[in-house]
Amino acid sequence: MSSSHRESSQRSALPPLFRPFPLRDVTFPNRVVVTPMCQYCADDGHAAEWHLAHHGRFSLGGVGGALVEATAITRNGRITHGCLGIYSDSHVERLSQITGLYHAHGIPVGIQLAHAGRKGSAALPFEGAAPLTEYDPSSAWETIAPSAIPMTEGWPTPRAMTVDEIHRTINAFVEAAMRAIGAGFDFIEIHGAHGYLVNSFFSPISNRRGDEWGGPSMENRLRFPVRVAEALRSAMPASMPLLYRTSSVDGIEGGIEIDDTVVLAKALKCAGVDLIDCSSGGIIGPSGRALIQPSPGYLVPYAEEVRRSAEIPTMAVGLITEAEQANEIIAAGRADLVAMGRQMMHQSNFAYHAAEKLGHPDPCSLLPDSYAFWLRRR
Ligand SMILES: Cc1cc2nc3c(=O)[nH]c(=O)nc-3n(C[C@H](O)[C@H](O)[C@H](O)COP(=O)(O)O)c2cc1C
Repeated sequence: MSSSHRESSQRSALPPLFRPFPLRDVTFPNRVVVTPMCQYCADDGHAAEWHLAHHGRFSLGGVGGALVEATAITRNGRITHGCLGIYSDSHVERLSQITGLYHAHGIPVGIQLAHAGRKGSAALPFEGAAPLTEYDPSSAWETIAPSAIPMTEGWPTPRAMTVDEIHRTINAFVEAAMRAIGAGFDFIEIHGAHGYLVNSFFSPISNRRGDEWGGPSMENRLRFPVRVAEALRSAMPASMPLLYRTSSVDGIEGGIEIDDTVVLAKALKCAGVDLIDCSSGGIIGPSGRALIQPSPGYLVPYAEEVRRSAEIPTMAVGLITEAEQANEIIAAGRADLVAMGRQMMHQSNFAYHAAEKLGHPDPCSLLPDSYAFWLRRR
C-alpha cells in the first residue's frame, strides 16, 4: 500500500468530527473549535493572566482550533472597560503568549476583531450590563453607529458615523489585523454578529442611513461588512483564512432573515471570506428582543442553509454539547466546523472525551505528548 493511500485510509477510519479540515494554508487537526468568549477582565484592552489560564485549559484538551474573544479595534469599540483590545502595539505581547499556548500543541488559533458600536460603553455583565451613563457617567464614552438610533429604550443615542469615520473604522480593522498577525494568529474572524457595529450596518433595524452606506437597500447595507472584509483580505497573506461571524437572523419583525444572510455570505465570499460562523440575534428593535429560543443545536440549520445556498464552508454553534451531536453535524455535511462555548467551560477536554466515545482509534493522540504517554498506560 502506498503511503498516501495508507494516510487516506487512516483518515477515513476517523469519526468525521476528527478528520482534519484545511482552509487556505491552515489545517484544523479536527473539527472542534473553541468559540470566542469575552472574559471581561482586560486592563485597557490588555489581556490578563486569567486569559492565559482560560486558553491554557483549552489548549491542552485536544481541540482542532480556537478563537480569542471579541477584541476591540479601537478603544471606544470595546463593549465594556474589561474587554480585550488590539488598538495599540502594547496589546501584542500578551496576545502572542496566548497564540504560543495553542501553537505549542499544533492548534491553529484565531482572533475575533470587533467594534461594539451602539452597544458599547456598558457595565460588565456581572455588574448589570447597563449603559455606563446610568451606572458611572464619568467612565462612559460616546458611542457610534450607522444611524442615531439607540440600542433600545433607556440606552444613549449613538452618533451616526460620518463617511470619513466609516473609512477610518475600516482602516482601524486593517491596523488591528496587522497587530494580530504580529501576535502570531493563524486566522482572523470579523465580528459581524450580535448587534455590534458591523452587524448594525447590515440590519435594517439599526441602519436607516440615506447614503450609499445604508437604508432600505440591501446592497447599501452590506457595503460596510463587505468593505471591511475586502480591506482585510487585501492586507492579509493569501495563506491566512478570513472568517466572518454573522447573526444569521435578527429574530425580530423587519429584521434580517436567513435569505438575507445567504446574500451577505455570497458577497463576503467574493470579498475573500473563507468561512461563515453562523450565530444569531443581538439587534433589539422597536418590537423588542429577539424571539430565539435556545435549544440543542438551535443554530445549526443556519450553518446548513448558508453552506448549501452560498456554497461556502460554515461553522455551527449554539448548544452543541454531545459528541454524537457534533459528529452528526459534520457527518451530515451540515457544517464544516463546530464551535463550542459553555460546554468547553464545563469540560475543556471535550474533544478528547468525544474521541473516546466516538471510537477514535487513538484518542490520546489528541493530547499533548506528556499527557498521552501516561494516559495510554491507564
Ligand atoms: C461568557 C461568554 C462570552 C461570549 N463572548 C463572545 C464573544 O466575545 N464573541 C462572540 O461572537 N460571541 C460570544 N459569546 C457567544 C458564544 O461565542 C457562543 O456563540 C454562544 O455561547 C453559544 O454557544 P454555546 O451554546 O456553545 O455556549 C459568548 C458567550 C459566552 C457564554
